[in-house]
Amino acid sequence: MSEKESVPRVALVTGGSRGIGAGAAIALAEDGWDVGISYRTRKDEADRVVAACEQLGRRAYAVQADVAESADIERLFDAITAELGPIGAVINNAGVVAPTARVEEYDVERLERVFRINAIGAFLVAGAAVRRMSTARGGAGGVIVSVSSRGAVLGSANEYVDYAASKAAVDTLTVGLAHEVAKEGIRVLGIRPGLIETDIHEEGRLDRIGTTPPLGRTGKVEEVAALIAFLASDRSSYMTGTMVDVSGGR
Ligand SMILES: NC(=O)c1ccc[n+]([C@@H]2O[C@H](COP(=O)([O-])OP(=O)(O)OC[C@H]3O[C@@H](n4cnc5c(N)ncnc54)[C@H](OP(=O)(O)O)[C@@H]3O)[C@@H](O)[C@H]2O)c1
Repeated sequence: MSEKESVPRVALVTGGSRGIGAGAAIALAEDGWDVGISYRTRKDEADRVVAACEQLGRRAYAVQADVAESADIERLFDAITAELGPIGAVINNAGVVAPTARVEEYDVERLERVFRINAIGAFLVAGAAVRRMSTARGGAGGVIVSVSSRGAVLGSANEYVDYAASKAAVDTLTVGLAHEVAKEGIRVLGIRPGLIETDIHEEGRLDRIGTTPPLGRTGKVEEVAALIAFLASDRSSYMTGTMVDVSGGR
């Protein structure tokens, strides 16, 4: 049986209320997935994404859940499964940056927040996905796509090296977990976006450095979402344990 026939066509996108996650939810709906999204505080934005997916003829559902809290993640997976059915794709997307600062200026509070959401959150979401999707645990298999950053490779000097390091953890999670679950029906992939037009950036950042990628421009959410939809689909069926850059050459 092909992956398309066996994997449930329900996708969960963390941080699906805005930016790349919202774009991914809509691209997945366009591809025929029913879509569950999580958000942290912006219910109004989440409701708009749900409406856009429903407009495309798919079922959609939004749940408030903080990816830094393991109880929230369990509640999120259970709520989406109860509402839409077993999950076949998880887009591990929720993430934050910290204000621009050099390493010698970071305090414990800052570091704990960045690593808790971006790294620990990504691990907890991936673990929750495996517990439900692994064929070794009675699941039907699936795909996990994590959203890292080109910063993981470039280091983000003078901006947020902590953010870059938290995303490097996501790269390593992708490779290691892919090998753990390759024979359990789960493919694990990651993407590294470059400078994408969302609200995550500090005021003026994209104006300042947006032309620096070799392609000479920033990227659009849709250009990242299309890659996520491809990786979630059976069109990428021979890919696992790898990162794909979507960064205009940066
Ligand atoms: N934009 C870029 O240039 C770029 C480049 C490389 C990597 N990325 C990565 O791409 C991902 C999405 O970024 P974006 O640019 O789309 O950001 P964004 O526009 O700021 O959206 C962030 C999303 O994550 C949610 N979120 C934030 N903290 C959360 C938490 N603790 N628990 C649950 N949800 C949380 C937000 O929910 P609310 O709406 O409720 O606040 C929102 O849906 C992030 O992992 C980011 O690091 C972005």
